[in-house]
Amino acid sequence: MPDKIIGFSKLSRVDKINWISKNFLNNSNEFENILNKYLNDDNKIQSLHNSFSENSISNFYLPYSVSPNFLINNNNYCIPLVTEESSVVAALANSSKFWYDRGGFKSKVLLNTKSGQIHFKYNGNIENLQEFVNKNEDELIKSTDKLTKRMKQRGGGIKKIELINMSKKLVSYFQLNVSFLTIDSMGANFINSCLEKISKTFQELINNSDQFKESEKKIEIIMSILSNYTPECIVESSVECKIDELGSVGKMSSNEFAIKFKTAFDIANIDINRAVTHNKGIMNGIDAVLISTGNDFRAVEAGIHAFASRTGNYKSLSECSIIDNIFRIKLKIPLSIGTVGGITDIHPMVKLSLKLLKTPTSNDLMNIICSVGLAQNYAAVKSLVTTGIQKGHMKMHLINILNKQNATQDQINKAEEYFKDKDINNQSVSNFLDQH
Ligand code: MEV
Repeated sequence: MPDKIIGFSKLSRVDKINWISKNFLNNSNEFENILNKYLNDDNKIQSLHNSFSENSISNFYLPYSVSPNFLINNNNYCIPLVTEESSVVAALANSSKFWYDRGGFKSKVLLNTKSGQIHFKYNGNIENLQEFVNKNEDELIKSTDKLTKRMKQRGGGIKKIELINMSKKLVSYFQLNVSFLTIDSMGANFINSCLEKISKTFQELINNSDQFKESEKKIEIIMSILSNYTPECIVESSVECKIDELGSVGKMSSNEFAIKFKTAFDIANIDINRAVTHNKGIMNGIDAVLISTGNDFRAVEAGIHAFASRTGNYKSLSECSIIDNIFRIKLKIPLSIGTVGGITDIHPMVKLSLKLLKTPTSNDLMNIICSVGLAQNYAAVKSLVTTGIQKGHMKMHLINILNKQNATQDQINKAEEYFKDKDINNQSVSNFLDQH
């Protein structure tokens, strides 16, 4: 076992690599060779990437893909997607092309308030505290004026501060719940700075107040932090068409397909085993756009899964209805994202993605991301209730093997047809290439 190292972050890149090779990789050169292959030739770009994270010693590539023909609120988008999962983009491209001819996706931001909490302990009269918060709400908000000036100019800022009594769940525990509008930024830094300022002012105002007994003044601030649960920052997307416009699917009539498809959605609504996987299919699309646009996918994932359990049972995020011969699917999710700030202004690929999406506002991007999630969900469930999911996966597996064996585009096209009902492995593909 290697000794504990002190001051690792202060070592040069080469020394870090040598230390790792010596202690974990038998001094092999392979580690350094591979890391070096993934460095960018352009020094400026490389230093930019180094600056994103501590102890960065190379870059980690993921494919940057695009999916064209995405009609959302009558705008035709070409969506940038970063994902390593082989069939995600192909499935999405099929789904968006299909819905393009049926009116495309309709999407609306329903709410866009975010929140953060100051968590504190208080031992004293609750009515007194409530009265104090009501009386000082404006003063608390005012104390953030310097921080909120620019956000207010853009139409955002702090909406309100409320006292939440949580002392029945945890002794002496209260919150100041602060609501924010952050316009086109995700606003994490903004919200956290405001919360820290408000918590200081709160403590000072209480100390200077004659409304409290000395013992009551000893509030203890536990922490001040934004919440990644954003049930008041919500977007909803849907697509619909007449049942016969779904067309026949394999051996199924459009009506049989619609009913089977809806049953799959209904199962995801009542069974957690299916709901989690159903929602994972939605997140395949959502995460890919979040990453390509420089958004915090961990925050969004956490918030969305909490939202899926808001009734006390984890459920599917999307719904399917068949009413008066109209087949409709709908996805409603909380989404706290940004199109300015963070790495959106710095990372060249992120800037490119946002340009490709016609420089969206954060509401536009919410509509795009939710629609992509729904399109991905349609594609996944469609293949599950028809051909099964392996067909698409096997096609990508085939293409991977063909590419490794340096097949031409003509051979790839022929192989796709040939392998529709045959075993795909290195040997069978190699035999096929010998003959074609
Ligand atoms: C695989 O990444 C995603 C699916 O499992 C989603 C689903 O089951 O709905 C195909």
